[in-house]
Amino acid sequence: MNTSSILWVNKYKPKSFEEIIGNYKAISEFRSWLENKLKGKAVKHAALLWGPPGVGKTLTVEVAASTYNLELIQMNASDFRTRYRVERILGRASETYSLLGRGRIILVDEVDGINMAEDRGGLNAIIKLVDLSIHPVVLTANDPWNPNFRELRERCKLIKYSRVNVRSIVSFLRKICLAEGIAADPSALKFIADRSGGDVRSAINDLQSVAFGKRRLTLEDVNWIAFRDRQLDAFEVLRGIFSSSNCRAAKAALSRSTLDYNMLLQWIHENLPLQYTLIEELIGGYEALSRADIYFGRIRSSQDWSLLSYALDLMSAGVAMARRRKFRFVKYNFPERIRLLSQTRTFRSVKNHVLSAIAKKCHVSKRIAGVEYLPFLKVIFELDPETASGIAKWLDLDSASIIFLTGSYDKAERILLRM
Ligand SMILES: Nc1ncnc2c1ncn2[C@@H]1O[C@H](COP(=O)(O)OP(=O)(O)OP(=O)(O)O)[C@@H](O)[C@H]1O
Ligand SMILES: [Mg+2]
Repeated sequence: MNTSSILWVNKYKPKSFEEIIGNYKAISEFRSWLENKLKGKAVKHAALLWGPPGVGKTLTVEVAASTYNLELIQMNASDFRTRYRVERILGRASETYSLLGRGRIILVDEVDGINMAEDRGGLNAIIKLVDLSIHPVVLTANDPWNPNFRELRERCKLIKYSRVNVRSIVSFLRKICLAEGIAADPSALKFIADRSGGDVRSAINDLQSVAFGKRRLTLEDVNWIAFRDRQLDAFEVLRGIFSSSNCRAAKAALSRSTLDYNMLLQWIHENLPLQYTLIEELIGGYEALSRADIYFGRIRSSQDWSLLSYALDLMSAGVAMARRRKFRFVKYNFPERIRLLSQTRTFRSVKNHVLSAIAKKCHVSKRIAGVEYLPFLKVIFELDPETASGIAKWLDLDSASIIFLTGSYDKAERILLRM
């Protein structure tokens, strides 16, 4: 079995327009634009399908290609980065027929994924493609309202896609369960559909993750999705913040989260040394975090919530701007540690224990220990087991505390072996 048939979003991907749920108006608008275009009528050069994720934008173009027997030339907007690709695409876009004598349809997926700061050329190449192509060009985007896209927007017929309603999603999920031989409680399917926020792809993926290989699906089976989402959410927020190249993007990444800010502060704190490896990145990042923490402290004591936006800016934009090197993909590890610690003592009490030890030895308050000492200790415990073991002895730390400071059993072991 290949992976595409393992994934239900592929296995149950609609093959005709009739099977696509919701967005009927958008689809019929698109079809009449395309039919006119194929007949050579004077319509807009390109169509721009826009709206939230997972509602059938890309799917519409895929189904159109097979329905109208067109060769689908699909590319992601980021392909427009390299000249070579652009020329090849433009070349194919201006040939009349494919080898098989079929017409073509050109899909430029996710145009809003183009990074405008770095990629003005990419956008111009797309505009050129729209102007020169003799085949229908379709673009998709979640949010095409960035002013930079104005020139492109003006050339396009805009077609708006919306979230798909819960009832339609439930009945789609029910059909999948039927085909898979799963007896699903309606409440379980309703739960998944509700959570999806009208995103059909995520509903199908959620269903598969809880129902694959089961004969029966109950509400209890799906409840853990909520827990999993919270973890995924934290990962995404972290990745969003650490990869941002400007303050606005970093703040936006933070504001998308449903986790509470103190929890997120912990997450960022814990993962900063995984993401940042240069010393100036670490210093800049931790400085922003500790200043955020100070604001949180003031908010707690004074209840002055007008300070919140400063704290949030520091923990998002402040941290993001500390990055000196290109963003690289790293595996974040906090949930694992939380899990490990929860088997011994709670996270809070271990942290508390460490802070007390620092406070006592260094003659500072526990708050100062947390804000000014802890971040640097974590870096040392991560990177330098030799020094760390000396400090651990001096502070008289136990193994749970050392695991807390290093973030992993393996690294803690390197320190414990030296003690
Ligand atoms: N309206 C729908 N009806 C049936 N299946 C759908 C629908 N929308 C999405 N799907 C399923 O989800 C998959 C992904 O959808 P699609 O690629 O069209 O999303 P999209 O709207 O392009 O989202 P994005 O903005 O993330 O690119 C499809 O291949 C299909 O399996
Ligand atoms: Mg898409």
